Amino acid sequence: MSSAESVPVITVDGPSGSGKGTVALAVARSLGWNFLDSGALYRVVGLLSLRHPSKPAAELARGVELHFEQAADGTPQVWLGDEDVSAAIRSESVSQAASKVAADPRVRSALVQAQRDFCRFPGLVADGRDMGTVIFSDAGVKVFLTASVEERARRRHKQLIGKGQSANLGDLLRDIGERDRRDRERSAAPLRPADDALMIDSTALDVPTVVQQILSQRALVATG
Ligand code: DC
Repeated sequence: MSSAESVPVITVDGPSGSGKGTVALAVARSLGWNFLDSGALYRVVGLLSLRHPSKPAAELARGVELHFEQAADGTPQVWLGDEDVSAAIRSESVSQAASKVAADPRVRSALVQAQRDFCRFPGLVADGRDMGTVIFSDAGVKVFLTASVEERARRRHKQLIGKGQSANLGDLLRDIGERDRRDRERSAAPLRPADDALMIDSTALDVPTVVQQILSQRALVATG
């Protein structure tokens, strides 16, 4: 057994707006484990593809130098070299660009090792679309988090307004639907639950309740 295999991993996959980022980060903090926001990697490649439209996205993905930090108030930050891209990668144009580059199998394979490098002691909570099916298919706990499209658009709307950005609920509903379809229907690592994933529908659940369900699952696996 390699040392990477013995690092405990919890994967949290699901569509955008299901709350998986918030939930996965809270689980990681509660356990004192490392956290991987794999969507941030695709978002950074999306951002780079908008900045360098003539370069192949896979080339941009191969050269990506990304690291995560925590601001003084605990907010996660994403750095591309010495540039803080935390806000830039959350714009709707980058969301769409990320979804497009994520459908390219060459981009996906260019990012595999960068994601697996986050698997370090004492453990890892990884959030994304294919964490449980492809990147960490041996994970001890796999969760697939969903919520209705309407609820996800409403959450995203609240998030954008909270950041002082303009947002239209109807546009968000359409964009989220489009992105879902692209993520689900692409041939490379489509969005789907792992066969052994715990399914959680968060439409009517608050974050602490979902976090507690995942921690209970972890406790069951750790003692079982
Ligand atoms: O989770 P997110 O919205 O930040 O992800 C941004 C995009 O990247 C989204 O369109 C799906 C894609 N993605 C992916 O294909 N695989 C992952 N593991 C994570 C994200």
